[in-house]
Amino acid sequence: MDKIIVRGGKRLEGEVNISTAKNSVLPIIAASILSGDKCIIESAPMLEDVFVISDVLRTISTEIDIDSKTNRILIDSSNIKDCEASSELVKKMRASFLIMGAMISRFGKFRLSLPGGCNIGTRPIDLHLKGFSALGAEVSVGHGYVEAQAKKLIGNKIYLDFPSVGATENIMMAAVMAEGETTIENAAEEPEIEDLAKFLNSMGANIIGAGSGTIHIIGVKNLKGTTHKPIYDRIEAGTFMTAAAITRSKIKINGIDERHLKPVIAKLTEAGVNIKIEGNSMVIDGDRDLKPIDIKTMPYPGFPTDMQSQLSGLLCTVHGTSIITETIFENRFMHASEMKRMGANIKIDGRSAVIEGVDRLTGAEVRATDLRAGAALVLCGLAAEGETEVTDIYHVDRGYVNIEKKLKGLGADIERAKM
Ligand code: EPU
Repeated sequence: MDKIIVRGGKRLEGEVNISTAKNSVLPIIAASILSGDKCIIESAPMLEDVFVISDVLRTISTEIDIDSKTNRILIDSSNIKDCEASSELVKKMRASFLIMGAMISRFGKFRLSLPGGCNIGTRPIDLHLKGFSALGAEVSVGHGYVEAQAKKLIGNKIYLDFPSVGATENIMMAAVMAEGETTIENAAEEPEIEDLAKFLNSMGANIIGAGSGTIHIIGVKNLKGTTHKPIYDRIEAGTFMTAAAITRSKIKINGIDERHLKPVIAKLTEAGVNIKIEGNSMVIDGDRDLKPIDIKTMPYPGFPTDMQSQLSGLLCTVHGTSIITETIFENRFMHASEMKRMGANIKIDGRSAVIEGVDRLTGAEVRATDLRAGAALVLCGLAAEGETEVTDIYHVDRGYVNIEKKLKGLGADIERAKM
């Protein structure tokens, strides 16, 4: 197992390139099995989560060729026979549940291990299942499995009680070849949903309105192979924006889409950071006197829960009181106790964290409890006095391509070591 060692206090400078989005590429890989034709994903991020979902698909006879030199993934699902995936891998990564919609759509039945909870919350799948049932599938849950089957899927109106990203994606995939029209109301509006719809439409699907709260899916008879490059990772970009702010540095970030970063730009600007957008790049200057801010996480276009831990880290270094309210996941403050080990002053009260900025953070041995918490601790290490060791870094590898190499390229004193 690896850990990251950071010696804090270095100013960052120079440029960093953002990879394509983990949360786009995972549903897109799942969607690739909707047609028996080959699909190609260009400029894919070489991430642990990508390797895991690929391994899950290999257990149902999909051939997946991942070329880490060209960042190209070739998916050939022409030989899928098994309509069951019971691998431990499914339990390891929740996003593998996204293959359910695609498999019911293509084969009319699928049986999959039930994904477990995870560190950030219980994460139920009731909305996914409600959607499959509304399309006419018979869904049952028992003995650790979810099973769904349907002679024929038929389009329907589906209202989501909460705009769940995964449920919106899974239902979209299940509905693309259903008979007639499906409407998803109160759908998630995240940019990754729009990207998935773009991918599906390039396979021959007919999806209108993805990226808004109402999505119309007009069923088509079949889909064909396609080639796609996912959108840039807005959360990786936001993490590097926070790296500039926490080290009070000025850097250039290449590979951004301003539209997708609006809430993060707004909040960092409110804190006093200066941001200039130049096309797909941004120059971010955190070398200022920063002010405390309040943040509430919300579904897109609100402030992303996936940026909450990183901003919490930043606000630990900003004098004054900041209040963070987490409304998406019930257990996403696990970074707080680790940050406290670095001298942070954070009090958790239910869904809120009250942060009093301190003069300085101090290096300590801390543990990445989940992906974004781990990234936030690396950021705290950049600002802390002395050496910080972030253990269990495998969480971070799930969602960041070479985080330590990218930070080193910006001048950070950082390295990866074996635990
Ligand atoms: N929810 C339900 N029932 C459901 C589905 C979701 O109650 O059937 C609840 C969840 O328990 C949670 C809320 O709805 O409280 C939001 O969950 P959502 O389904 O929107 O999240 P997800 O699809 O499981 C994706 C990202 C997460 C990101 C969330 C929210 C992927 C692979 N994962 O998860 O990414 O935090 O949307 O934006 O797209 C990360 O990258 O660190 C990460 C956790």
